[in-house]
Amino acid sequence: MSLLIREMQAGDVPSVYKLQEMLAFQKWSEAQILAEVSLPCAVTKVAYDGGLLVGYAIFHVIADEAELLSIAVDPTRQREGIAKAIYAETLSELKSRKIQSFFLEVRVRNTVAQQFYQSLGFVETYRRKRYYADGEDAVIMKGIL
Ligand SMILES: CC(C)(COP(=O)(O)OP(=O)(O)OC[C@H]1O[C@@H](n2cnc3c(N)ncnc32)[C@H](O)[C@@H]1OP(=O)(O)O)[C@@H](O)C(=O)NCCC(=O)NCCS
Repeated sequence: MSLLIREMQAGDVPSVYKLQEMLAFQKWSEAQILAEVSLPCAVTKVAYDGGLLVGYAIFHVIADEAELLSIAVDPTRQREGIAKAIYAETLSELKSRKIQSFFLEVRVRNTVAQQFYQSLGFVETYRRKRYYADGEDAVIMKGIL
């Protein structure tokens, strides 16, 4: 594996959208993803291997707080450390911005994502009842910097 991790550009958006649709974990439109690319508070990453998009992540940084909004890896390439590599690369960038807190929300039924976040040191802090439009609860997790 020869992983290239860089900032997301407008040209990556169709592939990012396709990956999101394939995984069916989130329902952002292509226009919403494109908007993130130029949003001043967004930090966006894509990972390529052999010219193919294998993963992406979207973070927001507001003042000294960071939030992980979305992270996904091609289903045929999971458990290879790709999401961890994207996260590690972004974290070192965020540290240089003097971030004081890092949090995320995840669906209570998405236990794979929760296990992934726990592997990065995130811990559950509380739950928001019926947070998602379909009534599912959200788990709020706080990361370590
Ligand atoms: C969550 C997700 C991004 C993880 O990506 P990944 O590249 O497979 O994760 P990594 O290979 O970097 O895994 C790092 C660690 O996370 C944990 N982990 C990841 N996937 C796991 C799984 N299916 N079961 C248990 N633990 C898991 C493990 O501790 C793993 O380390 P290990 O493989 O050495 O045991 C991926 O499963 C995914 O795309 N899921 C669908 C989209 C989604 O739900 N995103 C999160 C909500 S925004």
